Amino acid sequence: MTATSITSIQPVTADTVIQGDCIEIMRGMETGSVDMILTDPPYIARYRSRDGQTVKNDDNARWLRPAFAEAYRVLKSGGFCISFYGWNNADTFLAAWRTAGFRPVGHVVFRKRYASAKRFLSYQHEQAYLLAKGQVQMPLLPIPDVIDWRYERNALHPTQKPVSILTPLIEGFTSPSEIVLDPFCGSGSTLVAAKELGRRFMGIELDATHHATATRRIAGTDNRGWPRKRPLYLSNEDERATVPSTVQLPLRGVQTFDHYRATNPREKNQQGKIVPDPPRQGQLLGRSVNCRCLL
Ligand SMILES: C[S@@+](CC[C@H](N)C(=O)[O-])C[C@H]1O[C@@H](n2cnc3c(N)ncnc32)[C@H](O)[C@@H]1O
Repeated sequence: MTATSITSIQPVTADTVIQGDCIEIMRGMETGSVDMILTDPPYIARYRSRDGQTVKNDDNARWLRPAFAEAYRVLKSGGFCISFYGWNNADTFLAAWRTAGFRPVGHVVFRKRYASAKRFLSYQHEQAYLLAKGQVQMPLLPIPDVIDWRYERNALHPTQKPVSILTPLIEGFTSPSEIVLDPFCGSGSTLVAAKELGRRFMGIELDATHHATATRRIAGTDNRGWPRKRPLYLSNEDERATVPSTVQLPLRGVQTFDHYRATNPREKNQQGKIVPDPPRQGQLLGRSVNCRCLL
């Protein structure tokens, strides 16, 4: 795993976080080279935290169309992009996504137990669009479009996203070892979630301080944003639907839990349970599915 700072355009490799303007960096990437994009771009809202921190490019929309045009190009055909956005600029974001070629196929609401602000409403959710490129396949078990926001302090970035709300999105739309790109990666929450799930990742961040934070996180030397417990599903209701632990899951080419661990060196010494990946429910027992070990 490497951390790279660039002054000229360099090829982007997996499991890397690069410092620079994502438009320029993505221009150096191959068409169709990533499996999923999960990103949290500036909301174009002139954000200022209580302690005066701001977000680069949150004061203008000049980057929006070129960035998503490149994001569309580097995403594989049949891939998904999930992008957070600011609700008060929904029209601007939707126009940019559609112009790039994306087709909105879903919308996710992240429900908070507290209000970020109180004005006309008590503002208690974040939101993201699920965008498709080309002919996409529907998941066997679609994830819910309402996800509970589990509060994690914004210790690493003023608009940090909790890793726990990102993992179900990655689980739901990628398979193990696929590449997840976050062109606006901030402190690297998406990258941590992807790594946590055994996916490969690519991060791009303009700000040197945030780039350094993301670099530390993916190297595992800054665990402040790491989830204490691995989240499984999105709500209590879904957790009940989890495939039971001591499974006789029909793992691909593998019959038992011990055999699974023995043949997956990364997880060899881990105690845990095996679950299907992406998440699926019990009615799939008896069929071959990809699995992973939950700690
Ligand atoms: C909303 S924040 C992402 C926060 C992130 N989700 C986290 O959990 O830390 C958006 C990030 O995009 C970065 N950014 C803005 N313009 C950019 C550009 N053109 N290229 C790359 N990063 C950019 C900002 O510096 C900021 O850190």
